[in-house]
Amino acid sequence: PPLSEILNLHDFEAIARSVMPEKAWAYYSSAADDEITLRENHAAYHRVWFRPRILRDVTHLDWSTTILGQKSSMPVYITATALGKLGHPDGELNLTRAAAKHGVIQMIPTLASCSFDQLVDAAQPGQQQFLQLYVNKDREITKKFVQHAEKRGIKGLFITVDAPQLGRREKDMRMKFEEADPDQVSSNDKSKEVDRSQGAARAISSFIDPGLCWDDLAWFKSITKMPLILKGVQCWEDALEAYDQGMAGVVLSNHGGRQLDFARSGLEVLVEVVHKLGEKRGLTFPNEKFQLFVDGGVRRATDVLKAIALGATAVGIGRPFLYAFSSYGVEGVDHALGILRDEFEMSMRLLGARNLKEVVRDMLDASSIHQH
Ligand code: FNR
Repeated sequence: PPLSEILNLHDFEAIARSVMPEKAWAYYSSAADDEITLRENHAAYHRVWFRPRILRDVTHLDWSTTILGQKSSMPVYITATALGKLGHPDGELNLTRAAAKHGVIQMIPTLASCSFDQLVDAAQPGQQQFLQLYVNKDREITKKFVQHAEKRGIKGLFITVDAPQLGRREKDMRMKFEEADPDQVSSNDKSKEVDRSQGAARAISSFIDPGLCWDDLAWFKSITKMPLILKGVQCWEDALEAYDQGMAGVVLSNHGGRQLDFARSGLEVLVEVVHKLGEKRGLTFPNEKFQLFVDGGVRRATDVLKAIALGATAVGIGRPFLYAFSSYGVEGVDHALGILRDEFEMSMRLLGARNLKEVVRDMLDASSIHQH
């Protein structure tokens, strides 16, 4: 169907499923085990309700924000998703180009199909990018990559901490990656010992160091001045440790349900983290010095506004953009971001919030989310 018939981010998924190569659909859509967490990522948002305010002058609205010191036209960033060329020959370049047009920030994945430099070179003047890092067993490789990224102007390093081993994504495992284009992973970080018999995820992940631990964070601080963010924090204890160790923030995420099944949704964890870091360290959120991000299952501006009201600085969205470029190339991602922009306008006006500072906790009934 023409893009004009795509009315929301869910629509892209249905279309992608019918037009995408089976292998790409299996890799993009799959999640761990019985995919309970995948479903919960959506369901959690359905348990939170709005308490809109009326009779405020909502003629002029502004949903722009600042993420790790960088301007963003909306409180949304394009999160890291590996293997963009499975879905479209231009891979992640589709995201870079659409992000430029909409003034949003792209997080470049370590396992991008396009090379890191290609994605940085494609950015427009003033367009900012973050980098998602999988830490190599060979720390010299990681050090070189990180320092190169900093030199190239990357504004935030998101260290993925929920994937010491990649989860069991059975839909993906049933596919044999060997038939795929051998050029799908760039040389950013490729292992020599690749097992191609169990799907795309397993084929590309054997370099990741399961020995990564808290003691390594001091080393990261010694090799880069970029803000460091831990991606994949799932309880307040680890968020507190990240804060105490001087991280710039955490992403409350379960990797789109692709790692440990029965991990809780980021939204649920957000409530816990805001509460406990308030209690233990006197922090209030959103907080510029320690920023909370959430990803997983976000498909509507109303989802984003719920996370903002609960204290998040911004929210990451993954699969919808993959489905958008797999079906329509860069125009698909452009259209997806345009949909979100329109949804922000409508939702904020109906909520009675003129800017994101006015999107406050009292605008929600989140009583069904357990208080810890
Ligand atoms: C991911 N995600 C991910 N995360 C990461 O840190 N490194 C990676 O290489 C990838 N790769 C990846 C591939 C695909 C196909 C998906 C769907 C996801 C996780 C991603 O950053 C994010 O946490 C979730 O995708 C967010 O959930 P939604 O928006 O996809 O529901």
